Amino acid sequence: MRAVDLIIKKREGTVLTKQEIEYLIFGYIQGDIPDYQMSSFCMAVYFNGMTTEETHALTSAMLYSGEQINLSALTKPKIDKHSTGGVGDKISLILAPIAAACGLVVPMMCGRGLGHTGGTIDKMEAIPGYSTCLNRQQIEDICSRIGFVIMGQTDTIAPADKMLYALRDVSGTVESIPLITASILSKKLAEGADGFVFDVKAGVGAFMQDVAEATSLAGSLVSTTAAFGKPAAACITDMNAPLGRMIGNRCEVAEAYECLGGKMPDDIQEITFSLVSEMLILGNITDTLEKSVKLIKEKITDSTARNLFLENVRLQGGTCDMFLHDKGFTLPENTVAIKARKNGILHGIHACKIGIASMLLGAGRTKKTDDILPDAGVELFVTRGDAVKAGDELGILFSAPHIRMDEALLLAEEAFEIQDKPFVKKSLLLGKIDAHDLD
Ligand code: URA
Repeated sequence: MRAVDLIIKKREGTVLTKQEIEYLIFGYIQGDIPDYQMSSFCMAVYFNGMTTEETHALTSAMLYSGEQINLSALTKPKIDKHSTGGVGDKISLILAPIAAACGLVVPMMCGRGLGHTGGTIDKMEAIPGYSTCLNRQQIEDICSRIGFVIMGQTDTIAPADKMLYALRDVSGTVESIPLITASILSKKLAEGADGFVFDVKAGVGAFMQDVAEATSLAGSLVSTTAAFGKPAAACITDMNAPLGRMIGNRCEVAEAYECLGGKMPDDIQEITFSLVSEMLILGNITDTLEKSVKLIKEKITDSTARNLFLENVRLQGGTCDMFLHDKGFTLPENTVAIKARKNGILHGIHACKIGIASMLLGAGRTKKTDDILPDAGVELFVTRGDAVKAGDELGILFSAPHIRMDEALLLAEEAFEIQDKPFVKKSLLLGKIDAHDLD
């Protein structure tokens, strides 16, 4: 077999066999197939797609490029959630302790933020001392003690994805349904969960901009997971505006903690409750949405979820100072206000523009090797539907003293879409898919 023949085959739209896909993936991780051939192959997949069988074969080759975590000693249902990435998306930080409080084990393997989207690992590492680099024993111990763990991908879990994701990021091949499916599932299937709920984001702040594309990605994630014999469901959710009030890292952790104390903005509540409900149903803890919501509310009100969050911070080496006495987030000194350019009703807060502004402030990376500034970010004072007047403060940008804010401020000001007509609030839940929908 020769890599170039397989690239040409894919370029011409011919279906590849399992053996051919394995040849490419294993050849790539062993260093026999160079980056330029692999990026060419990814581009051919980007344009011609893959069949269900090819996507399954690609996922399997990437999954078995590394080791799998075995959590079979834990008897509770092990259900995880994965988001395809958004702005202000701190749902995992709130959802994992709630789901654990309701009786699930959540072995959550997460990623770092890249470009305008944030990542759970960067957010949790903004807590001083917190480590997401855990060995198998630590993962199992933390899961058995408190029901959830937040871990980063190690060199031994799906190494093919680690190499391919970095390559796709710089070769314009991220936004491909089969490549995203194989990338996400090769990591998720390795972490030892019994089932998965996917939060597939649609909108200007997401990889999939329109709902039809996001629905296809959701279908691909659910059906490929089913092909590995595991149940899954997907929610398609709106990512046109950032979620919640804070966009950044430490500030998002502080907001997540407030949410666990019961102070949850409507958008965060709708998405968190929908996703946890799907997880509880998948794990057979409840059988209806109503029963799930009742249980979730109980675990927030009696502080079980919030206490599990604090316990997780301690067990993963973090200090709880920022959570004590409801201190909240302390703004750094370098700040600038975002002001409204005209009077009217706020119709949109462009998630991608706010995400890029936050990245320019140092909360995200422009390239994989950049360090992030944990205290940098954006706070929004308004939400869609609010009436605003020219000159009103709509939010604030903050960062370290040496960071210039002019470019970020320009983008942030442009992000606010102010109109004269009334705003009609819509549900953020745009659709749902489970394995039966695909029969
Ligand atoms: N998240 C992933 O892990 N992989 C992708 O390809 C896209 C989002």
